[in-house]
Amino acid sequence: MIFPKWTNTLPTMLLGGTLAGLGLVIGLVWYYFTPKYWRTGYMPAQPAVSAAFEQDLFEAARRDSRTPEIPGVMYPGFSHQIHAGKLGMDCRYCHSHIEESAEANIPTVSTCMGCHADGHVNTLFAKAERVQFVRDAWEADAPIEWRRVHKVPDYVRNFPHHVHIHAGVSCLSCHGNIMEQPVVHQVEPLSMGWCLECHRNAEPHLVPRDKVTDLYWVRDHFESTNFRNTSGTGADGAATPGGAALLKALEEKNLHLLPANCGACHY
Ligand code: HEC
Ligand code: HEC
Ligand code: HEC
Ligand code: HEC
Ligand code: HEC
Repeated sequence: MIFPKWTNTLPTMLLGGTLAGLGLVIGLVWYYFTPKYWRTGYMPAQPAVSAAFEQDLFEAARRDSRTPEIPGVMYPGFSHQIHAGKLGMDCRYCHSHIEESAEANIPTVSTCMGCHADGHVNTLFAKAERVQFVRDAWEADAPIEWRRVHKVPDYVRNFPHHVHIHAGVSCLSCHGNIMEQPVVHQVEPLSMGWCLECHRNAEPHLVPRDKVTDLYWVRDHFESTNFRNTSGTGADGAATPGGAALLKALEEKNLHLLPANCGACHY
């Protein structure tokens, strides 16, 4: 025997060490690229509640794609899946300033009360206990404390919603399919690289202006065009002024599609 017997285990030990090292690297990469680190997927309970309840809510939201049902607890939140998806309400019914203003507004309690006042729609469809917090807020003349989900840092000038909406960029491109979200969460990184990626090649994102809030249409459209709408044809095969045609119109307006114009986004 040339080598002592213990060296037989050496390859195994080496392999073990390599695997452990690899595991560490994967772990680190995993950590830094997880949605949590980037805030993608940030999904707080709405409105603000205790941490324990938030965890319950999160678990329930994962179990049930509809409004979370927690034994003994009435879910006090707001579901886009019910209101925008199932009931088909247009985003602008509630986010009513989005076409004129940089900031997207969150609706006031009175918007909800149009349907959820005692004796209105809730007595027919929505369980009274579930919408009680809306009526309580109305009685108390106090706003509902919704937690903010999407936020760019302060050193970024106001992100102009209206400019994007008018250009034909759908809510779906930046917020995902809100119509399927029982609890709103962030699906895009909202990083500078992400902004610039679209600014450098906005064309595939541009949809006809009247479809901007019709997220199911937009989703089908992106799928049917394989996200490359150079033909100017929409999901239904009809000619649309989206994609290349819309981009051309933007260029004719001599608007700056600003890939690297720092001042457009920073003070
Ligand atoms: C019935 C009213 C209503 C309708 C319709 C509605 N929303 Fe909302 N939206 C709200 C309320 C209330 C909040 C705050 C609570 C929350 O975040 O769930 C909100 C929050 C949001 C947020 C997260 C805001 C943040 O904190 O960053 C986004 C994004 C959003 N809505 C997009 C949409 C889109 C896109 C549509 C149309 C497909 C839509 N909403 C339709 C009421 C509505
Ligand atoms: C256009 C009418 C309308 C408006 C405006 C509206 N809702 Fe509703 N809401 C409904 C209807 C209808 C249901 C029941 C739908 C169902 O359960 O299928 C409902 C259900 C609910 C529920 C119960 C969900 C559940 O799990 O059973 C909550 C909570 C709620 N709405 C909150 C709000 C809040 C907060 C606002 C304002 C931001 C609002 N709604 C605005 C029509 C409306
Ligand atoms: C080009 C990307 C983009 C598009 C398109 C877009 N948003 Fe946003 N949205 C953002 C960003 C970025 C923020 C965070 C803005 C900030 O921090 O000032 C945001 C924030 C919001 C908020 C939170 C505002 C607040 O003050 O709490 C709502 C509500 C919202 N968007 C709704 C919508 C709706 C509805 C549409 C479609 C009609 C839409 N957005 C289209 C990128 C977009
Ligand atoms: C999905 C595509 C898309 C994304 C993502 C996007 N933008 Fe834009 N943005 C556009 C388009 C298209 C225009 C051109 C609008 C025009 O020229 O009318 C634009 C215009 C702008 C303008 C207007 C400049 C002017 O001339 O008034 C600003 C500011 C801006 N974007 C900031 C941002 C920031 C900040 C982000 C990231 C948080 C972002 N955008 C993400 C598509 C996008
Ligand atoms: C389309 C909008 C847009 C343009 C144009 C833009 N930025 Fe940014 N920038 C952003 C956003 C959004 C963030 C915040 C990213 C985040 O939250 O991670 C940012 C972040 C930054 C940061 C901080 C980065 C960090 O890691 O903390 C610096 C520095 C910066 N930008 C410099 C620039 C310079 C220099 C230019 C011109 C070459 C430029 N930006 C052009 C949108 C833009």
